[in-house]
Amino acid sequence: MRLLLAIESSCDETAAAVVDDALNVRSNVVASQAELHAEYGGVVPEIASRAHLERLLPVLEGALKEAGVRAEDIDSVAVTTHPGLVGSLLVGLTAAKTLAWVWGVPLVAVNHVEAHLYACRMAAGREVFPAVGLVVSGGHSTLYDCRGPADFRVLGGTIDDAAGEAFDKVAALLGLGYPGGPAVSKAAEGGDAAAVDLPRPMLRSGDFRMSFSGLKTAVRYAAHGIPGKEPAPELTPQRVADIAASFQEAAVDVLATKALAAVKKTGAGRLLVGGGVAANRRLREVLAERCQTRRVDLVVAPPEMCTDNAAMAGMAWELLDAGDVAGLDADVLPGLMR
Ligand code: KG4
Ligand code: ZN
Repeated sequence: MRLLLAIESSCDETAAAVVDDALNVRSNVVASQAELHAEYGGVVPEIASRAHLERLLPVLEGALKEAGVRAEDIDSVAVTTHPGLVGSLLVGLTAAKTLAWVWGVPLVAVNHVEAHLYACRMAAGREVFPAVGLVVSGGHSTLYDCRGPADFRVLGGTIDDAAGEAFDKVAALLGLGYPGGPAVSKAAEGGDAAAVDLPRPMLRSGDFRMSFSGLKTAVRYAAHGIPGKEPAPELTPQRVADIAASFQEAAVDVLATKALAAVKKTGAGRLLVGGGVAANRRLREVLAERCQTRRVDLVVAPPEMCTDNAAMAGMAWELLDAGDVAGLDADVLPGLMR
């Protein structure tokens, strides 16, 4: 059995995992930096790079130890090279290149967004392609036509903010803290999703484009009033919960509607959902209901495989077996989606 060491440092989680060639996750270590960025209400790239540098070696050692393997047992090294924050990606890539060179094993470059979808394949433990893939994270809200395990074509996505970014901004507007997604989701539990009438932008655009920026502005007006026009009702804890629930419902409705339209259009019959927002309970619930009604095979990874981790870079086995090996001159491609 061959073993892969995977490294992920594209944003604010420093992660390493050992995955075997049957896609069993032997270890999966994630060091979150959330507390470092909390006071700024978002990820500060420079702080993230420095924190990766401090955390990567202990995380790598932890991954090998947890898997019960030695360095010489590793047959290849995989690393996220794109997309992400340039400084953060560089820390992971430099470590991966060094290890691949020292150990004399192949290096594989992994696309982080595609790996979010591949997490579904790993969690399912069965073939899941072809399918439509929805990636909803802090940086992306994109629909893919996934024709094979490493053949993903973009169908469309957000034209402004990512869904996760909208959750984070709404959390900040409502004073719910950081990271915003889980905070909004928690506040929404005590709220009425029909209490505040919020828009569902581009719901009927007839294509796979999405937009979350106007929804965010509508939340701002609901929470703080329209400047120079209407004052908002007092922002009591109940009002906060109602706005959170109404926002979550609108975002989930748009994502689910677009995803199911893509399933219909491609005739795929299956939907994979990945990325941090896929950990959202309400999104999982609505997708499960709608997929069941339409007999669509829904595959969503468990929440810990939805948020950033290195195990999902188990996708590297597909690339490696297809001969897609990276050279030691490989570079990070911060803005590249494909
Ligand atoms: O995939 P991810 O961990 O990192 C990126 O690649 O961006 O996604 C992070 C995003 C953040 O915006 C976070 O607020 C959101 O996922 N998120 C959630 C939940 N958990 C994380 N959004 C909604 N509900 C959640 N439970
Ligand atoms: Zn991610």
